[in-house]
Amino acid sequence: MALKSSSLLLLLLLVSATALVSGHLSPTFYSSTCPGLRRTVRSAMAEAVRQNPRNAAFLIRLFFHDCFVNGCDGSILLDSTAAFASEKFALPNNNSARGFELVDAIKARVEAICPATVSCADVLALSTQEGVALLGGPTWTVELGRRDSRAAFQSAANKEIPSPFDDLKELVALFRAKGLDARDMTALSGAHTIGQAQCFTYAPRIHEDRNIDGGFAARLRRTCPASGRGGARAPLDSRTPYRFDNAFYQELVAKRGLLHSDQELFNGGSQDKLVRRYSTDAAAFERDFAAAMVKMGALLPRPGTKGEIRRKCNRIN
Ligand code: HEM
Ligand SMILES: *[C@@H]1O[C@H](CO)[C@@H](O)[C@H](O)[C@H]1NC(C)=O
Repeated sequence: MALKSSSLLLLLLLVSATALVSGHLSPTFYSSTCPGLRRTVRSAMAEAVRQNPRNAAFLIRLFFHDCFVNGCDGSILLDSTAAFASEKFALPNNNSARGFELVDAIKARVEAICPATVSCADVLALSTQEGVALLGGPTWTVELGRRDSRAAFQSAANKEIPSPFDDLKELVALFRAKGLDARDMTALSGAHTIGQAQCFTYAPRIHEDRNIDGGFAARLRRTCPASGRGGARAPLDSRTPYRFDNAFYQELVAKRGLLHSDQELFNGGSQDKLVRRYSTDAAAFERDFAAAMVKMGALLPRPGTKGEIRRKCNRIN
């Protein structure tokens, strides 16, 4: 009996310790402190996406690059200071991560109704979900309660964010390092159903790769030289560039992935079966994508880092 109750106690302790570490995030985190939050973010995003649908692409990419560096803590949003170098200038972000002004503007609207209450990391998480939904993608319940970092981590951004020249093994390893498995990685890559890439990111693919549709490569080579220079851009999903659907996977099956890294998901390897499945089963993609977004959104800084609620997203308080 004594043994039983002590092991029960131990179990309870373990369970509550796990809850403390794995997150205090909750969908209702601001429901009493900022009841107008969702409405405000939604109308700001609706306006922004109407102006330029690519805004939805900018924000989900920012969210991904934020979460992969010290967890989803708004660190990517900070400008450089004497104490740290901004992640904005890390290789995967420099001249390609966009949408910073939009996040700052949405945060300003949130500050106007709930001052010093909602973190920038949460504003980004909510805006991302609204953007995906506005382009016809799945919705999911956004967990909230993140805190903003008081520093940026440029060298981590250079090392931990995947590159378009990576092979499948490298992609799997970089996601696994964040607690995301190959299935999460393949589902999350479906975000490339929207948005664009610049020539330098796909030049080697269209000039050197063999596993590429001939007509597709020839057409792209007209505007994108092997040097990668010239400033051309192309949609990541040329079938439906601004519809958040499963056409990205259909393009992969047709060997029309724009990035080398994208085509790695369907190149005779471990993810082929899943790519084929997503290409024909939109509901399966949507389910897995939504679940993986929640999982990625739960990446947090190491326990013990307190953080803050930043007033302005581009600088610490
Ligand atoms: C699997 C590894 C990934 C690699 C190697 C990768 C790489 C890239 C590259 C090189 C670009 C083009 C950037 C530019 O030229 O300006 C891009 C764009 C984009 N990425 Fe990824 N990405 C990956 C995963 C993801 C994930 C997980 C998401 C979100 C969940 C995402 C969302 C986007 C979006 C929406 C764009 C278009 C941005 C725009 O229109 O400016 N990517 N990605
Ligand atoms: C970022 O891009 C600018 C403009 O192309 C370039 O001058 C600068 O050296 C880049 N920064 C880093 C850290 O690579």
